[in-house]
Amino acid sequence: MTIAPVQRTASNAWTDAKLILALEEVVETELNRHLKVAKEWMPHEYVPWSQGRDFDGVLGGEAWSIEQSKITPLGRISLVVNLLTEDNLPSYHREIATMFGREGAWGTWVHRWTAEEGRHGIAIRDYLLATRAVDPVELERARMVHMSEGFESDNAHSMLQSVAYVAFQELATRISHRNTGHFAGDPLCDQLLAKIANDENLHMVFYRNLLKAALELAPDQAMRAIADVVTNFRMPGHGMPGFERSAVQIAVGGVYNLRIHHDDVLQPVLRHLKVMEIDGLGPDGARAQEELGVFLDGLHAQAVRFDERQAALLARRAANAARK
Ligand SMILES: [Fe+2]
Ligand SMILES: [Fe+2]
Repeated sequence: MTIAPVQRTASNAWTDAKLILALEEVVETELNRHLKVAKEWMPHEYVPWSQGRDFDGVLGGEAWSIEQSKITPLGRISLVVNLLTEDNLPSYHREIATMFGREGAWGTWVHRWTAEEGRHGIAIRDYLLATRAVDPVELERARMVHMSEGFESDNAHSMLQSVAYVAFQELATRISHRNTGHFAGDPLCDQLLAKIANDENLHMVFYRNLLKAALELAPDQAMRAIADVVTNFRMPGHGMPGFERSAVQIAVGGVYNLRIHHDDVLQPVLRHLKVMEIDGLGPDGARAQEELGVFLDGLHAQAVRFDERQAALLARRAANAARK
């Protein structure tokens, strides 16, 4: 769909309210497309219930201990980060419902997206508890701390930044689930996370297509929003207990790091939208596009340095393991 850009003058500058109204039709189209391609799936079918048994406490079953967990240490760290991130859904719902509204096609999308995201937390928690993959007490306490903090979007002041953020963030979440599945060491976990990653991909496509329409409608403002989001990107789980420590393991282990962020998250969205090739921008848009280019070059250089450090660390680990 091509939307004719309107004259960019101070009097008809795009406000969030005008943008939301102007993009309603695109939201409706994308929502209908999403509903056609999203296939129903049942979280309970992905959980190996036969591996489950009572825990200690009220039912007097067996207490959790680490040897019961069949997944890798990296899988344990990453699954907890991914689950706690999914757990904060009430806060994400509040953020997008406040920004996009609960009416019309926007509202239908907000509620449908929330329902789909809800499935992710349910399925991962059921899997972790049935297989005794992680400490259930620690998990519950971390959930309480994380949800009690709530989540406040860095982008709540701007509708375009909110759309740009979720386009990248849904892809980041997809990649994070998918790679966690690859490294967890249990094919059943991999199967479940591949299913969830597929949902996250459809969410990314929805927001990416919306961002494309926004770039056509308000190119300068959308370019500024993309530049600001990319240069300040943080994962939604950044506030959870022990996030920094977990993030280091997740980076070194190859679930999510600078290289993956650059190659598998930022570049695919930017290339699809041809963000660096858009011309005819006004001075504000052109400046934003230039800033974005400089940032991406810098990030690429950082990713090269990360690759080198990661390779050296993994080689040291392998040498130590061989000596033991
Ligand atoms: Fe999710
Ligand atoms: Fe999602």
